[in-house]
Amino acid sequence: MTSQADMQPTRKRIAVVLAAGSGRRMGGETPKQFLPLGGRTVLEHAVEAFTHHPAIDEVVIVGPAEHLTDIRRMAERNAWLKVSHIVPGGRERHESTLAALRLYEDTDVDLLFHDAARPLVSASVITRVAEALLEHEVVATALPVVDTIIESTDGRVTAYPDRSALRRMQTPQGFRRSVLRHAYALALADPSFRTTDDCGVVFRYLPGTPVHLVDGDERNMKLTYPEDIPLLERFLET
Ligand code: CTP
Ligand code: MG
Repeated sequence: MTSQADMQPTRKRIAVVLAAGSGRRMGGETPKQFLPLGGRTVLEHAVEAFTHHPAIDEVVIVGPAEHLTDIRRMAERNAWLKVSHIVPGGRERHESTLAALRLYEDTDVDLLFHDAARPLVSASVITRVAEALLEHEVVATALPVVDTIIESTDGRVTAYPDRSALRRMQTPQGFRRSVLRHAYALALADPSFRTTDDCGVVFRYLPGTPVHLVDGDERNMKLTYPEDIPLLERFLET
């Protein structure tokens, strides 16, 4: 185990909370990151996990353009001194990642990207990612798979991948800034580029760069559907 002294960053560690989605699967008027969970919003839970963490130097919040004023007020109300930027995101998640990445051009920092929709990220998960970034350029959080996962096309099973090799990806995902920037430069030149997470961009466009895995956490689930709310509430109580 690395001691707190060893965790002193050689590079600044920036947490980026991605909160610019519209929550289509959740439905409703208010994007899911602004819904209440145990007395505060989902976004507040996610941001505070990072503002309270000693390994994090700065926090960036990427939000929907039409909600930036609300987020600024939220930051003032909570006296979030570590929040350095509140910026508008894009239509796709990776465009929101790029909005944060642009703030740190030509700087040698580590970036930890986190879904605002994962309000219960624990300090220990953040510590694991921050520690792993001392040694590795790209770090992801993942959990084993309990269900049998199959591949299918046109309603028919096409493959039974070996479950012991499968993992569920979570966030935070951590990167040396220059590596992620390089991966995105290649991705943006590819007309068929699509992704749902940032590690996938490195995996596809910089195949020589290992994506190191650390353990995620069941509580760090993503709010996706309305039925996830009671589960999150139960986790919050325990
Ligand atoms: N996100 C973002 N910018 C986008 C899309 C997503 O910052 N253009 C953020 C979301 O706010 C969320 C996280 O990325 O915190 C994970 O995305 P997801 O769960 O897919 O959220 P939404 O895209 O909002 O939901 P949906 O896909 O159901 O519309
Ligand atoms: Mg989405």
